Amino acid sequence: MLTRSMPLIFLVNLLVMGCHLVELPKPKPPKPIEITLQSEAPFTVGAAIDPTRLRNDTAYRRVLSKEFDGITAENMLKMNNVHPAQNTYDWSRADYIVQFALDGKKRMHGHTFVWHQAIPGWVNNFVGDSAAWEGLLKDHILKVGGYYQGKVSSWDVVNEAFQSNGSLRNTGEGGSIWRRNLGPDYVARCFQYARQADPKAVLFYNDFGQETSPAKLKAMLDMVTDFKKRNIPIDGIGLQMHINLNTPNEGIANAIRSSAQTGLKVHISELDVAINPGGSTSIEFTDELKERQRQKFFYVVKTYKELVPKAQQHGITTWNVGDADSWLRSYYKRKDWPLPFDDAYQKKPAYYGFIEGLR
Ligand code: G3I
Repeated sequence: MLTRSMPLIFLVNLLVMGCHLVELPKPKPPKPIEITLQSEAPFTVGAAIDPTRLRNDTAYRRVLSKEFDGITAENMLKMNNVHPAQNTYDWSRADYIVQFALDGKKRMHGHTFVWHQAIPGWVNNFVGDSAAWEGLLKDHILKVGGYYQGKVSSWDVVNEAFQSNGSLRNTGEGGSIWRRNLGPDYVARCFQYARQADPKAVLFYNDFGQETSPAKLKAMLDMVTDFKKRNIPIDGIGLQMHINLNTPNEGIANAIRSSAQTGLKVHISELDVAINPGGSTSIEFTDELKERQRQKFFYVVKTYKELVPKAQQHGITTWNVGDADSWLRSYYKRKDWPLPFDDAYQKKPAYYGFIEGLR
């Protein structure tokens, strides 16, 4: 009860106590933002993935969700998987990957409409004249590109058309069934069909070894010049960048620089750094090798960031996620540790090399 006789000091005390009662709790310090590949990169950082692992391996899925903002299907958009019989398309496994990308707001890159490998049996056994072959190829691109229109935003239209001597794969080992049946200008027509299939998709020519095969690099750049002259729709170059600890840095820089000079987008599309290309059975992944791999990742990422103008940076994609799921182990049946994450999907020195290269 307040009365006239209450001393002023008492009133002041009451007021101060009131203020204390309504005092707001101290704000909590903000959560530190976790550094990830995607948070540090000014461009998309992707990984090539497999739907079975994505479904079954929680560490794989967690690292993908957190670290990467781009996805490539390692195998499931290849012709043998998506188009297993002439009138059969199997979308299920590719759909699972595309849906994961869409749900996570990750960019989905398509790999690949036309390749001399991963050819389904029905194509190997196909008999027809050149018009029939042309129809087969065109249908495939229109159907797959059309189905994923608006979901897959970029495509490797043609993959690995050149040999290391710069000539188009044709006959013999490593030859191309497409070149043999469709003639030397088939690559250009693939790009025209791809544009027709999805006018908004960004269209890439993708190949490996440009950093060590000057003739192949030149053949690819000459093709780009020719396509530009003839208005063949090509938007980008994919440098797969399957390299190893001894790949010379000058070759890497030269491939990146000269690709950027075309003015097209440049995608490092399948990056990995092999430790054991010779397939030694006794090799161990020592600290020294880990450090050399860190430096190689750093060099590739830094060089890409420096030499490719921003508007042309399509991003960097690693081929697989961690050492456990690397194609080098399953394909060559050898020991290797080529990726930024280890067998348990923990960060390796290579991961920190990648991060430093982005800065
Ligand atoms: O899925 C089957 C499985 O059912 C079967 O038991 C097993 C027996 O060999 O084979 C499995 O398929 C394999 C598939 O990888 C999945 O592991 C194929 O035989 C094998 O040929 C296939 O290899 C893929 C290779 O391309 C050929 O398509 C690799 O995973 C894939 O990483 C590799 O990717 C290529 C790029 O597309 C283009 N650039 C080079 C890169 C590396 O070679």
